[in-house]
Amino acid sequence: MDVQSITGPAPIVQRVPGSFWFVGCGNMAGAMVEGWRLAGMDLSSSVGIRPSARPVEGLRTVRSLFEAGCPPEYMLLGFKPQLLDEVAPDLRRFSDGAVIVSILAGVELASLAARFPGARAIVRAMPNLPVAVRRGVVALVSDDVDEALRQRLGERFRQLGTAIWSPNEASFGAVGALAGAGPAYVARFIEALAAAGQARGLDPALALTVARETVFGTAWLAASTGELMDEMVARVRSPNGTTEAGLAVFEAELPSLIDRTLAAAGRRSAELAEAARQIDSPATLA
Ligand SMILES: NC(=O)c1ccc[n+]([C@@H]2O[C@H](COP(=O)([O-])OP(=O)(O)OC[C@H]3O[C@@H](n4cnc5c(N)ncnc54)[C@H](OP(=O)(O)O)[C@@H]3O)[C@@H](O)[C@H]2O)c1
Repeated sequence: MDVQSITGPAPIVQRVPGSFWFVGCGNMAGAMVEGWRLAGMDLSSSVGIRPSARPVEGLRTVRSLFEAGCPPEYMLLGFKPQLLDEVAPDLRRFSDGAVIVSILAGVELASLAARFPGARAIVRAMPNLPVAVRRGVVALVSDDVDEALRQRLGERFRQLGTAIWSPNEASFGAVGALAGAGPAYVARFIEALAAAGQARGLDPALALTVARETVFGTAWLAASTGELMDEMVARVRSPNGTTEAGLAVFEAELPSLIDRTLAAAGRRSAELAEAARQIDSPATLA
């Protein structure tokens, strides 16, 4: 007998169409809110739920689920993965019939489905911080969205930059591994480039501006022209020139460094997934 039949049918709840509960609204969910506001999305019927109740521009913000009012169409899980089992039991009181969109790193669809068995659909999204300026990358995956919902969610997430529906969680994980943490790696690269400029006598602020604008301009140029990276490199390096001398060092180290970086993040993601698999009986959450 499943949980539905033990507890009786879920009450009929009038959900506000298109509205969101941002359950946890810190750095990442807050960046998504910013991006959607920039895109002109009306969030007036959406609610940010965070223990601090710190205000989030454009949203009504409350301390707990029980102050949030009429349940929404979409519930975006934006807290830390380790809090899943603290939040899930209360959230289950409201989640039947809602679309659960989880940005929790590592937590798999099956683990979410076990905790929210009455949800209309379960979606994993892996966004990155540039969603705040509508230039993010968002990986999406779901086993149970219908075509209409898939289109609607795709459109909604495209307002934040590039949205990519993945065919399965493995490919979702690969896109997420690059995109989710990518801004932190790129930020460290910019910092290292700036530090090298500083070591060569540049003022720190100037070095940072030069490094940041070089990365930004390169990405912008590549995105505008669609040029391949090899073509870009060929347009900068000249045979036996200074760039070529630098690249000889850089290219020897970089692929292995990036691979080890992503492997370490992947191992941590597997640990989070394993921890979230631990509770597999929805009955224990009732
Ligand atoms: N940061 C990224 O670049 C990034 C990228 C992709 C995915 N993610 C995922 O996004 C999630 C959040 O990461 P973050 O960097 O945004 O962390 P964060 O800034 O620390 O935000 C966490 C949010 O969870 C709230 N929270 C804490 N306890 C809660 C509870 N019991 N119920 C509801 N909300 C609670 C916090 O409330 P207060 O605001 O009141 O403290 C805060 O708003 C993680 O699962 C992470 O895997 C992050």
